[in-house]
Amino acid sequence: MNKFQNRVTRCGFMWIFIGSIALVLLISLCSTSFFDYSLQKFEFSFPEENELRRNVYTAGEENRVVVDSRHVSQQILSVRSTNSSLQSKPEKLNRRKLVEDGLAKARASILKAASNRNTTLFNIDLPNPEIYRNPSGLHRSYLEMEKRFKVYVYEEGEPPLVHDGPCKSVYAVEGRFITEMEKKTTKFRTYDSDQAHVYFLPFSVTWLVRYLYEGNYNVKPLRTFVSDYIRLVSTNHPFWNRTNGADHFMLACHDWGPLTSRANKDLFNTSIRVMCNANSSEGFNPKKDVTLPEIKLYGGEVDPKLRLSKSLTASPRPYLGFFAGGVHGPVRPILLNHWKQRDPEMPVYEYLPKHLNYYDFMRSSKFCFCPSGYEVASPRVTEAIYSECIPVILSVHFVLPFTDVLRWETFAVLVDVSEIPRLKEILMSISDEKYEWLKRNLRDVRRHFELNDPPKRFDAFHLTLHSIWLRRLNLKLT
Ligand SMILES: *[C@@H]1O[C@H](CO)[C@@H](O)[C@H](O)[C@H]1NC(C)=O
Ligand SMILES: *[C@@H]1O[C@H](CO)[C@@H](O)[C@H](O)[C@H]1NC(C)=O
Ligand SMILES: *[C@@H]1O[C@H](CO)[C@@H](O)[C@H](O)[C@H]1NC(C)=O
Ligand SMILES: *[C@@H]1O[C@H](CO)[C@@H](O)[C@H](O)[C@H]1NC(C)=O
Ligand SMILES: *[C@@H]1O[C@H](CO)[C@@H](O)[C@H](O)[C@H]1NC(C)=O
Repeated sequence: MNKFQNRVTRCGFMWIFIGSIALVLLISLCSTSFFDYSLQKFEFSFPEENELRRNVYTAGEENRVVVDSRHVSQQILSVRSTNSSLQSKPEKLNRRKLVEDGLAKARASILKAASNRNTTLFNIDLPNPEIYRNPSGLHRSYLEMEKRFKVYVYEEGEPPLVHDGPCKSVYAVEGRFITEMEKKTTKFRTYDSDQAHVYFLPFSVTWLVRYLYEGNYNVKPLRTFVSDYIRLVSTNHPFWNRTNGADHFMLACHDWGPLTSRANKDLFNTSIRVMCNANSSEGFNPKKDVTLPEIKLYGGEVDPKLRLSKSLTASPRPYLGFFAGGVHGPVRPILLNHWKQRDPEMPVYEYLPKHLNYYDFMRSSKFCFCPSGYEVASPRVTEAIYSECIPVILSVHFVLPFTDVLRWETFAVLVDVSEIPRLKEILMSISDEKYEWLKRNLRDVRRHFELNDPPKRFDAFHLTLHSIWLRRLNLKLT
Protein backbone atom coordinates (compact mmCIF):
# COMPACT_ATOMS: atom_id res chain seq x y z
CA MET A 1 0.00 0.00 0.00
CA ASN A 2 1.52 3.33 -0.97
CA LYS A 3 1.45 6.49 1.00
CA PHE A 4 -1.30 8.02 -1.14
CA GLN A 5 -3.69 5.09 -0.65
CA ASN A 6 -2.93 5.17 3.02
CA ARG A 7 -3.90 8.80 3.21
CA VAL A 8 -7.11 8.20 1.25
CA THR A 9 -8.12 5.43 3.65
CA ARG A 10 -7.34 7.66 6.59
CA CYS A 11 -9.40 10.48 5.11
CA GLY A 12 -12.26 8.07 4.49
CA PHE A 13 -12.23 7.00 8.12
CA MET A 14 -12.07 10.58 9.18
CA TRP A 15 -15.18 11.45 7.20
CA ILE A 16 -17.03 8.47 8.62
CA PHE A 17 -15.93 9.59 12.05
CA ILE A 18 -17.07 13.18 11.49
CA GLY A 19 -20.31 11.91 9.96
CA SER A 20 -21.08 9.75 12.99
CA ILE A 21 -20.42 12.62 15.34
CA ALA A 22 -22.78 14.80 13.32
CA LEU A 23 -25.43 12.07 13.45
CA VAL A 24 -25.07 11.63 17.19
CA LEU A 25 -25.34 15.40 17.65
CA LEU A 26 -28.43 15.49 15.48
CA ILE A 27 -30.07 12.69 17.43
CA SER A 28 -29.23 14.30 20.73
CA LEU A 29 -30.59 17.64 19.55
CA CYS A 30 -33.83 16.04 18.45
CA SER A 31 -34.20 14.08 21.61
CA THR A 32 -33.50 16.90 24.00
CA SER A 33 -35.34 19.89 22.66
CA PHE A 34 -37.84 19.85 25.48
CA PHE A 35 -35.83 19.08 28.57
CA ASP A 36 -34.12 22.39 28.54
CA TYR A 37 -32.90 23.53 31.92
CA SER A 38 -30.03 25.68 30.78
CA LEU A 39 -30.17 29.26 31.91
CA GLN A 40 -27.09 31.20 30.95
CA LYS A 41 -27.83 33.98 33.38
CA PHE A 42 -27.62 31.72 36.36
CA GLU A 43 -24.55 31.13 38.39
CA PHE A 44 -25.60 27.66 39.35
CA SER A 45 -23.21 24.89 38.61
CA PHE A 46 -25.53 23.15 36.20
CA PRO A 47 -23.99 20.14 34.54
CA GLU A 48 -23.35 20.20 30.80
CA GLU A 49 -26.56 20.87 28.98
CA ASN A 50 -26.66 17.61 27.06
CA GLU A 51 -25.68 15.54 30.01
CA LEU A 52 -28.38 17.19 32.05
CA ARG A 53 -31.13 16.55 29.61
CA ARG A 54 -30.41 13.03 28.58
CA ASN A 55 -29.79 11.18 31.77
CA VAL A 56 -31.58 7.96 32.22
CA TYR A 57 -31.17 5.55 35.03
CA THR A 58 -31.18 1.87 34.34
CA ALA A 59 -31.31 -0.55 37.20
CA GLY A 60 -28.62 -2.95 36.04
CA GLU A 61 -26.65 -5.74 37.69
CA GLU A 62 -26.85 -5.95 41.47
CA ASN A 63 -29.77 -3.58 41.19
CA ARG A 64 -27.31 -0.70 41.06
CA VAL A 65 -28.61 2.40 39.43
CA VAL A 66 -26.23 3.47 36.72
CA VAL A 67 -26.49 6.47 34.49
CA ASP A 68 -26.65 5.86 30.79
CA SER A 69 -27.13 8.93 28.70
CA ARG A 70 -27.75 7.08 25.43
CA HIS A 71 -30.96 5.39 26.38
CA VAL A 72 -33.47 8.17 25.87
CA SER A 73 -32.61 8.78 22.26
CA GLN A 74 -32.54 5.06 21.46
CA GLN A 75 -35.79 4.64 23.23
CA ILE A 76 -37.43 7.51 21.42
CA LEU A 77 -36.17 6.39 18.05
CA SER A 78 -37.46 2.90 18.58
CA VAL A 79 -40.84 4.20 19.66
CA ARG A 80 -41.04 6.35 16.58
CA SER A 81 -39.97 3.78 14.05
CA THR A 82 -41.51 0.54 15.16
CA ASN A 83 -45.04 -0.54 15.73
CA SER A 84 -45.09 -1.71 19.30
CA SER A 85 -46.50 -5.18 19.81
CA LEU A 86 -48.32 -3.69 22.77
CA GLN A 87 -51.59 -2.95 21.03
CA SER A 88 -52.08 -6.47 19.75
CA LYS A 89 -51.59 -8.47 22.94
CA PRO A 90 -51.59 -6.35 26.09
CA GLU A 91 -52.75 -9.18 28.34
CA LYS A 92 -49.50 -11.09 27.84
CA LEU A 93 -47.28 -8.23 28.88
CA ASN A 94 -45.90 -7.82 32.29
CA ARG A 95 -47.74 -4.94 33.95
CA ARG A 96 -44.57 -3.11 34.88
CA LYS A 97 -43.57 -3.16 31.25
CA LEU A 98 -46.86 -1.49 30.43
CA VAL A 99 -45.89 1.38 32.71
CA GLU A 100 -42.55 1.78 30.94
CA ASP A 101 -44.17 1.48 27.53
CA GLY A 102 -46.66 4.18 28.47
CA LEU A 103 -43.79 6.45 29.44
CA ALA A 104 -42.04 5.75 26.16
CA LYS A 105 -45.16 6.79 24.29
CA ALA A 106 -45.43 9.93 26.38
CA ARG A 107 -41.77 10.82 25.61
CA ALA A 108 -42.33 10.33 21.92
CA SER A 109 -45.44 12.44 21.85
CA ILE A 110 -43.83 15.23 23.90
CA LEU A 111 -40.77 15.35 21.68
CA LYS A 112 -42.94 15.47 18.61
CA ALA A 113 -45.04 18.30 20.05
CA ALA A 114 -41.97 20.18 21.27
CA SER A 115 -40.91 20.96 17.72
CA ASN A 116 -44.36 22.15 16.64
CA ARG A 117 -44.65 25.93 16.46
CA ASN A 118 -48.43 26.04 15.92
CA THR A 119 -49.69 28.08 18.87
CA THR A 120 -53.38 27.30 18.28
CA LEU A 121 -52.68 23.87 19.73
CA PHE A 122 -52.00 25.19 23.22
CA ASN A 123 -53.06 28.81 23.48
CA ILE A 124 -56.27 28.12 25.39
CA ASP A 125 -54.31 26.49 28.22
CA LEU A 126 -51.14 28.57 27.88
CA PRO A 127 -52.17 31.96 26.48
CA ASN A 128 -48.78 33.66 26.91
CA PRO A 129 -46.14 31.51 25.19
CA GLU A 130 -43.29 33.90 26.08
CA ILE A 131 -43.00 32.77 29.67
CA TYR A 132 -42.37 29.11 28.83
CA ARG A 133 -39.23 27.40 27.58
CA ASN A 134 -41.21 25.33 25.17
CA PRO A 135 -44.97 25.97 25.41
CA SER A 136 -46.05 23.21 23.06
CA GLY A 137 -43.71 20.71 24.73
CA LEU A 138 -44.99 21.71 28.16
CA HIS A 139 -48.58 21.54 27.01
CA ARG A 140 -48.22 18.06 25.59
CA SER A 141 -46.26 16.90 28.62
CA TYR A 142 -48.95 18.28 30.92
CA LEU A 143 -51.70 16.50 28.98
CA GLU A 144 -49.70 13.27 29.06
CA MET A 145 -49.32 13.70 32.81
CA GLU A 146 -53.07 14.20 33.22
CA LYS A 147 -53.71 11.13 31.13
CA ARG A 148 -51.19 8.77 32.69
CA PHE A 149 -49.35 9.86 35.82
CA LYS A 150 -49.98 7.66 38.86
CA VAL A 151 -48.48 8.07 42.30
CA TYR A 152 -48.47 5.31 44.90
CA VAL A 153 -48.64 6.81 48.41
CA TYR A 154 -47.21 4.59 51.15
CA GLU A 155 -49.78 3.92 53.86
CA GLU A 156 -47.28 3.12 56.61
CA GLY A 157 -46.97 5.52 59.54
CA GLU A 158 -49.35 7.65 61.58
CA PRO A 159 -50.30 11.30 61.46
CA PRO A 160 -49.09 13.88 62.30
CA LEU A 161 -45.55 12.84 61.31
CA VAL A 162 -46.78 10.99 58.22
CA HIS A 163 -49.89 11.67 56.05
CA ASP A 164 -50.17 15.22 57.39
CA GLY A 165 -48.30 18.53 57.31
CA PRO A 166 -48.56 22.27 57.91
CA CYS A 167 -51.18 24.01 55.78
CA LYS A 168 -50.55 27.50 57.16
CA SER A 169 -47.64 29.90 57.39
CA VAL A 170 -44.37 29.74 55.55
CA TYR A 171 -44.14 25.98 54.95
CA ALA A 172 -47.80 25.66 53.90
CA VAL A 173 -46.98 24.15 50.53
CA GLU A 174 -45.59 21.05 52.30
CA GLY A 175 -48.85 20.26 54.09
CA ARG A 176 -51.02 21.25 51.16
CA PHE A 177 -49.22 18.86 48.82
CA ILE A 178 -49.22 15.94 51.28
CA THR A 179 -52.89 16.50 52.13
CA GLU A 180 -53.82 16.62 48.46
CA MET A 181 -51.94 13.41 47.63
CA GLU A 182 -53.56 11.68 50.61
CA LYS A 183 -57.08 12.34 49.33
CA LYS A 184 -58.77 9.26 47.96
CA THR A 185 -60.26 11.39 45.20
CA THR A 186 -56.93 12.69 43.86
CA LYS A 187 -56.86 11.39 40.32
CA PHE A 188 -53.08 11.05 40.38
CA ARG A 189 -53.15 8.62 43.30
CA THR A 190 -53.22 4.90 42.70
CA TYR A 191 -53.59 2.05 45.16
CA ASP A 192 -52.35 -0.40 42.55
CA SER A 193 -48.58 -0.50 42.98
CA ASP A 194 -48.09 -2.13 39.56
CA GLN A 195 -49.65 0.88 37.89
CA ALA A 196 -47.52 3.46 39.71
CA HIS A 197 -44.87 5.61 38.07
CA VAL A 198 -43.56 6.98 41.35
CA TYR A 199 -43.84 6.10 45.04
CA PHE A 200 -44.38 8.87 47.61
CA LEU A 201 -42.88 8.85 51.11
CA PRO A 202 -45.51 11.10 52.77
CA PHE A 203 -43.67 12.25 55.90
CA SER A 204 -43.59 15.94 56.81
CA VAL A 205 -40.19 17.37 57.71
CA THR A 206 -41.87 20.40 59.32
CA TRP A 207 -43.83 18.12 61.64
CA LEU A 208 -40.72 16.01 62.32
CA VAL A 209 -39.03 19.23 63.43
CA ARG A 210 -42.01 20.21 65.55
CA TYR A 211 -42.47 16.86 67.28
CA LEU A 212 -39.03 15.22 67.34
CA TYR A 213 -36.48 18.01 67.44
CA GLU A 214 -35.02 18.60 70.89
CA GLY A 215 -32.76 21.57 70.27
CA ASN A 216 -29.05 22.26 69.77
CA TYR A 217 -29.30 21.88 65.99
CA ASN A 218 -29.31 18.14 66.49
CA VAL A 219 -31.13 16.66 63.50
CA LYS A 220 -30.37 13.07 64.50
CA PRO A 221 -33.90 12.24 65.74
CA LEU A 222 -35.30 13.40 62.38
CA ARG A 223 -32.84 11.29 60.45
CA THR A 224 -33.52 8.26 62.62
CA PHE A 225 -37.20 8.58 61.86
CA VAL A 226 -36.65 8.83 58.11
CA SER A 227 -34.19 5.99 57.94
CA ASP A 228 -36.55 3.79 59.99
CA TYR A 229 -39.43 4.78 57.72
CA ILE A 230 -37.49 3.73 54.63
CA ARG A 231 -36.45 0.49 56.31
CA LEU A 232 -40.10 -0.18 57.09
CA VAL A 233 -41.43 0.41 53.58
CA SER A 234 -38.52 -1.35 51.91
CA THR A 235 -39.13 -4.42 54.06
CA ASN A 236 -42.90 -4.40 53.60
CA HIS A 237 -42.78 -3.86 49.83
CA PRO A 238 -40.41 -4.70 46.98
CA PHE A 239 -40.51 -1.21 45.36
CA TRP A 240 -37.66 0.59 47.09
CA ASN A 241 -35.09 -2.16 46.60
CA ARG A 242 -36.06 -2.58 42.94
CA THR A 243 -34.55 0.83 42.01
CA ASN A 244 -32.69 1.90 45.17
CA GLY A 245 -35.38 4.53 45.52
CA ALA A 246 -34.91 6.13 42.09
CA ASP A 247 -38.66 6.17 41.41
CA HIS A 248 -39.48 7.40 44.92
CA PHE A 249 -39.94 10.94 46.12
CA MET A 250 -40.04 12.90 49.35
CA LEU A 251 -41.28 16.48 49.70
CA ALA A 252 -40.30 19.17 52.18
CA CYS A 253 -40.53 22.92 52.37
CA HIS A 254 -38.79 23.17 55.74
CA ASP A 255 -35.21 24.48 55.56
CA TRP A 256 -34.01 21.18 56.98
CA GLY A 257 -35.45 19.08 54.16
CA PRO A 258 -31.99 18.51 52.63
CA LEU A 259 -30.36 17.74 56.01
CA THR A 260 -33.10 15.27 56.84
CA SER A 261 -32.77 13.57 53.46
CA ARG A 262 -29.21 12.62 54.40
CA ALA A 263 -30.77 9.95 56.60
CA ASN A 264 -30.47 7.48 53.77
CA LYS A 265 -27.74 7.48 51.11
CA ASP A 266 -30.11 6.50 48.31
CA LEU A 267 -32.78 8.97 49.37
CA PHE A 268 -30.18 11.73 49.08
CA ASN A 269 -28.34 10.58 45.97
CA THR A 270 -30.93 8.68 43.96
CA SER A 271 -34.51 9.55 44.91
CA ILE A 272 -36.41 12.60 43.71
CA ARG A 273 -36.26 15.18 46.51
CA VAL A 274 -38.88 17.90 46.18
CA MET A 275 -37.74 20.82 48.33
CA CYS A 276 -38.03 24.57 48.83
CA ASN A 277 -34.42 24.72 49.99
CA ALA A 278 -32.82 24.01 46.61
CA ASN A 279 -29.18 24.92 47.12
CA SER A 280 -27.14 23.40 44.31
CA SER A 281 -23.98 23.55 46.38
CA GLU A 282 -25.56 21.42 49.09
CA GLY A 283 -26.33 18.44 46.90
CA PHE A 284 -29.49 19.71 45.21
CA ASN A 285 -29.34 18.11 41.80
CA PRO A 286 -31.74 19.61 39.24
CA LYS A 287 -31.46 16.48 37.10
CA LYS A 288 -33.43 14.49 39.66
CA ASP A 289 -34.53 16.91 42.40
CA VAL A 290 -37.40 19.40 42.16
CA THR A 291 -37.67 22.93 43.58
CA LEU A 292 -40.88 23.56 45.48
CA PRO A 293 -42.04 27.20 45.58
CA GLU A 294 -42.23 28.63 49.10
CA ILE A 295 -45.72 30.09 49.59
CA LYS A 296 -46.66 31.82 52.83
CA LEU A 297 -50.31 31.50 53.85
CA TYR A 298 -51.79 33.17 56.93
CA GLY A 299 -54.54 30.98 58.34
CA GLY A 300 -54.40 28.99 55.14
CA GLU A 301 -55.11 31.96 52.84
CA VAL A 302 -53.15 34.47 50.83
CA ASP A 303 -53.08 37.89 52.53
CA PRO A 304 -56.05 39.99 51.29
CA LYS A 305 -53.65 42.68 50.07
CA LEU A 306 -52.08 40.17 47.70
CA ARG A 307 -55.26 38.73 46.22
CA LEU A 308 -55.79 39.28 42.56
CA SER A 309 -57.75 42.50 42.07
CA LYS A 310 -58.09 45.52 39.82
CA SER A 311 -56.84 47.81 42.58
CA LEU A 312 -53.66 45.76 42.86
CA THR A 313 -52.96 45.98 39.15
CA ALA A 314 -53.80 49.70 39.09
CA SER A 315 -51.80 50.43 42.23
CA PRO A 316 -49.41 53.35 41.66
CA ARG A 317 -45.76 52.38 42.13
CA PRO A 318 -43.77 55.36 43.32
CA TYR A 319 -40.84 53.26 44.59
CA LEU A 320 -38.23 51.74 42.34
CA GLY A 321 -37.17 48.89 44.64
CA PHE A 322 -38.07 47.57 48.08
CA PHE A 323 -36.77 45.22 50.74
CA ALA A 324 -37.44 44.68 54.44
CA GLY A 325 -36.17 41.75 56.44
CA GLY A 326 -33.64 40.37 58.89
CA VAL A 327 -29.92 40.28 58.15
CA HIS A 328 -29.61 36.51 57.77
CA GLY A 329 -27.32 34.45 55.62
CA PRO A 330 -24.63 35.47 53.15
CA VAL A 331 -26.46 37.85 50.76
CA ARG A 332 -28.55 40.20 52.88
CA PRO A 333 -25.63 41.86 54.72
CA ILE A 334 -24.30 42.97 51.32
CA LEU A 335 -27.69 44.37 50.29
CA LEU A 336 -28.19 46.21 53.57
CA ASN A 337 -24.63 47.51 53.67
CA HIS A 338 -25.10 49.19 50.35
CA TRP A 339 -28.72 50.21 50.39
CA LYS A 340 -30.17 50.39 53.89
CA GLN A 341 -31.97 53.73 54.06
CA ARG A 342 -29.72 55.24 51.43
CA ASP A 343 -32.14 56.27 48.75
CA PRO A 344 -35.73 57.49 49.15
CA GLU A 345 -36.65 55.84 45.84
CA MET A 346 -35.44 52.47 47.09
CA PRO A 347 -36.74 51.79 50.61
CA VAL A 348 -34.50 49.10 52.10
CA TYR A 349 -35.14 48.32 55.75
CA GLU A 350 -33.66 45.87 58.17
CA TYR A 351 -36.94 45.53 60.01
CA LEU A 352 -39.94 47.49 58.84
CA PRO A 353 -41.09 49.99 61.49
CA LYS A 354 -44.29 48.75 63.15
CA HIS A 355 -46.58 51.40 61.69
CA LEU A 356 -45.66 50.51 58.09
CA ASN A 357 -47.22 47.67 56.13
CA TYR A 358 -44.98 45.25 54.29
CA TYR A 359 -47.45 44.40 51.52
CA ASP A 360 -48.35 48.06 50.99
CA PHE A 361 -44.69 48.59 50.13
CA MET A 362 -44.69 45.64 47.76
CA ARG A 363 -47.78 47.00 46.04
CA SER A 364 -46.18 50.43 45.72
CA SER A 365 -42.84 49.26 44.29
CA LYS A 366 -41.89 48.38 40.76
CA PHE A 367 -39.22 45.90 41.82
CA CYS A 368 -38.91 43.78 44.95
CA PHE A 369 -35.54 42.52 46.11
CA CYS A 370 -35.51 38.81 46.93
CA PRO A 371 -32.17 38.02 48.54
CA SER A 372 -31.56 34.58 50.07
CA GLY A 373 -31.72 34.43 53.85
CA TYR A 374 -30.35 31.62 56.01
CA GLU A 375 -31.35 29.39 53.13
CA VAL A 376 -31.65 30.06 49.41
CA ALA A 377 -35.46 30.04 49.25
CA SER A 378 -37.68 32.84 50.50
CA PRO A 379 -41.46 33.34 50.43
CA ARG A 380 -40.69 36.84 49.10
CA VAL A 381 -40.43 35.51 45.59
CA THR A 382 -44.08 34.40 45.50
CA GLU A 383 -45.18 37.46 47.47
CA ALA A 384 -43.52 39.65 44.85
CA ILE A 385 -45.28 37.70 42.10
CA TYR A 386 -48.64 38.08 43.86
CA SER A 387 -48.14 41.81 44.40
CA GLU A 388 -47.12 42.34 40.75
CA CYS A 389 -43.78 43.67 41.91
CA ILE A 390 -41.03 42.33 39.61
CA PRO A 391 -38.84 40.00 41.71
CA VAL A 392 -35.15 40.84 41.68
CA ILE A 393 -33.47 37.54 42.46
CA LEU A 394 -30.30 37.96 44.51
CA SER A 395 -28.96 34.54 45.34
CA VAL A 396 -26.18 32.12 44.64
CA HIS A 397 -26.73 28.40 44.01
CA PHE A 398 -30.53 28.74 44.07
CA VAL A 399 -32.30 26.60 41.52
CA LEU A 400 -35.54 28.56 41.06
CA PRO A 401 -38.93 26.76 41.09
CA PHE A 402 -40.18 25.41 37.76
CA THR A 403 -37.01 26.41 35.87
CA ASP A 404 -37.62 23.21 33.92
CA VAL A 405 -40.55 24.88 32.15
CA LEU A 406 -40.54 28.62 32.93
CA ARG A 407 -38.26 31.33 31.55
CA TRP A 408 -37.59 33.31 34.69
CA GLU A 409 -35.88 36.08 32.76
CA THR A 410 -39.27 36.99 31.20
CA PHE A 411 -40.87 37.93 34.54
CA ALA A 412 -38.00 38.50 36.96
CA VAL A 413 -34.67 40.27 37.04
CA LEU A 414 -31.73 38.03 37.87
CA VAL A 415 -28.87 40.00 39.34
CA ASP A 416 -25.51 38.57 40.30
CA VAL A 417 -24.73 39.17 43.97
CA SER A 418 -21.51 40.94 43.00
CA GLU A 419 -23.63 43.59 41.20
CA ILE A 420 -25.52 44.65 44.34
CA PRO A 421 -23.65 47.99 44.51
CA ARG A 422 -25.02 48.78 41.02
CA LEU A 423 -28.61 47.75 41.79
CA LYS A 424 -30.15 51.16 41.21
CA GLU A 425 -28.26 51.66 37.97
CA ILE A 426 -29.38 48.22 36.75
CA LEU A 427 -33.05 48.88 37.54
CA MET A 428 -32.93 52.41 36.07
CA SER A 429 -31.59 50.97 32.83
CA ILE A 430 -34.73 48.86 32.35
CA SER A 431 -36.92 50.72 29.87
CA ASP A 432 -40.61 51.39 30.49
CA GLU A 433 -41.53 48.97 27.67
CA LYS A 434 -39.38 46.24 29.16
CA TYR A 435 -40.87 46.90 32.59
CA GLU A 436 -44.44 46.67 31.24
CA TRP A 437 -43.52 43.46 29.43
CA LEU A 438 -42.07 41.94 32.61
CA LYS A 439 -45.17 42.98 34.54
CA ARG A 440 -47.54 41.51 31.98
CA ASN A 441 -45.62 38.25 32.07
CA LEU A 442 -45.59 38.31 35.87
CA ARG A 443 -49.38 38.54 35.88
CA ASP A 444 -49.58 35.54 33.57
CA VAL A 445 -47.20 33.47 35.64
CA ARG A 446 -49.08 34.10 38.89
CA ARG A 447 -51.45 31.14 38.57
CA HIS A 448 -48.47 28.75 38.47
CA PHE A 449 -47.51 29.89 41.97
CA GLU A 450 -50.96 29.70 43.51
CA LEU A 451 -52.32 26.97 45.75
CA ASN A 452 -56.01 26.26 45.30
CA ASP A 453 -58.38 24.05 47.23
CA PRO A 454 -59.26 22.02 45.27
CA PRO A 455 -56.22 22.45 42.98
CA LYS A 456 -56.74 24.00 39.57
CA ARG A 457 -55.03 22.98 36.36
CA PHE A 458 -51.52 24.45 35.94
CA ASP A 459 -51.40 25.76 39.52
CA ALA A 460 -48.52 25.25 41.98
CA PHE A 461 -49.74 21.79 43.02
CA HIS A 462 -49.98 20.60 39.43
CA LEU A 463 -46.74 22.17 38.22
CA THR A 464 -44.91 20.57 41.15
CA LEU A 465 -46.43 17.26 40.18
CA HIS A 466 -45.42 17.99 36.60
CA SER A 467 -41.80 18.58 37.64
CA ILE A 468 -41.87 15.16 39.34
CA TRP A 469 -43.40 13.67 36.19
CA LEU A 470 -40.53 15.14 34.11
CA ARG A 471 -37.93 13.62 36.43
CA ARG A 472 -39.68 10.28 36.08
CA LEU A 473 -39.76 10.63 32.30
CA ASN A 474 -35.98 10.95 32.39
CA LEU A 475 -35.78 7.65 34.17
CA LYS A 476 -35.99 4.42 32.25
CA LEU A 477 -36.22 1.33 34.40
CA THR A 478 -35.43 -2.04 32.92
C1 LIG B 1 -49.15 -0.48 13.04
O1 LIG B 1 -50.31 -1.02 13.66
C2 LIG B 1 -51.52 -0.52 13.15
C3 LIG B 1 -52.67 -1.07 14.01
O2 LIG B 1 -52.50 -2.44 14.29
C4 LIG B 1 -51.64 -0.92 11.66
O3 LIG B 1 -52.85 -0.42 11.12
C5 LIG B 1 -50.45 -0.33 10.91
O4 LIG B 1 -50.49 -0.73 9.56
C6 LIG B 1 -49.13 -0.76 11.55
N1 LIG B 1 -48.04 -0.05 10.94
C7 LIG B 1 -46.90 -0.64 10.58
C8 LIG B 1 -45.86 0.24 10.02
O5 LIG B 1 -46.72 -1.84 10.73
C1 LIG C 1 -52.67 24.78 13.72
O1 LIG C 1 -53.47 23.77 14.33
C2 LIG C 1 -54.86 23.96 14.15
C3 LIG C 1 -55.62 22.92 15.00
O2 LIG C 1 -55.12 21.64 14.78
C4 LIG C 1 -55.18 23.85 12.65
O3 LIG C 1 -56.56 24.03 12.45
C5 LIG C 1 -54.40 24.93 11.91
O4 LIG C 1 -54.59 24.80 10.53
C6 LIG C 1 -52.90 24.84 12.23
N1 LIG C 1 -52.22 25.99 11.68
C7 LIG C 1 -51.11 25.87 10.95
C8 LIG C 1 -50.49 27.15 10.49
O5 LIG C 1 -50.60 24.80 10.69
C1 LIG D 1 -34.62 -4.76 50.73
O1 LIG D 1 -33.27 -4.70 51.12
C2 LIG D 1 -33.08 -4.67 52.54
C3 LIG D 1 -31.60 -4.43 52.81
O2 LIG D 1 -30.82 -5.14 51.92
C4 LIG D 1 -33.61 -5.94 53.15
O3 LIG D 1 -33.46 -5.90 54.56
C5 LIG D 1 -35.09 -6.06 52.81
O4 LIG D 1 -35.61 -7.27 53.31
C6 LIG D 1 -35.29 -5.99 51.30
N1 LIG D 1 -36.72 -5.93 51.07
C7 LIG D 1 -37.39 -6.87 50.43
C8 LIG D 1 -38.85 -6.66 50.26
O5 LIG D 1 -36.84 -7.87 50.00
C1 LIG E 1 -23.92 10.42 47.88
O1 LIG E 1 -22.96 9.79 47.06
C2 LIG E 1 -21.64 10.23 47.27
C3 LIG E 1 -20.77 9.59 46.21
O2 LIG E 1 -21.05 8.23 46.10
C4 LIG E 1 -21.22 9.86 48.67
O3 LIG E 1 -19.89 10.31 48.92
C5 LIG E 1 -22.15 10.54 49.65
O4 LIG E 1 -21.84 10.15 50.96
C6 LIG E 1 -23.60 10.18 49.34
N1 LIG E 1 -24.47 11.02 50.14
C7 LIG E 1 -25.08 10.58 51.23
C8 LIG E 1 -25.92 11.55 51.96
O5 LIG E 1 -24.97 9.44 51.61
C1 LIG F 1 -25.75 27.21 49.89
O1 LIG F 1 -24.84 26.23 50.24
C2 LIG F 1 -23.51 26.68 50.42
C3 LIG F 1 -22.64 25.47 50.70
O2 LIG F 1 -23.06 24.81 51.86
C4 LIG F 1 -23.47 27.68 51.59
O3 LIG F 1 -22.15 28.17 51.74
C5 LIG F 1 -24.41 28.81 51.28
O4 LIG F 1 -24.45 29.70 52.37
C6 LIG F 1 -25.79 28.27 50.99
N1 LIG F 1 -26.62 29.39 50.57
C7 LIG F 1 -27.52 29.92 51.38
C8 LIG F 1 -28.20 31.13 50.90
O5 LIG F 1 -27.81 29.42 52.42
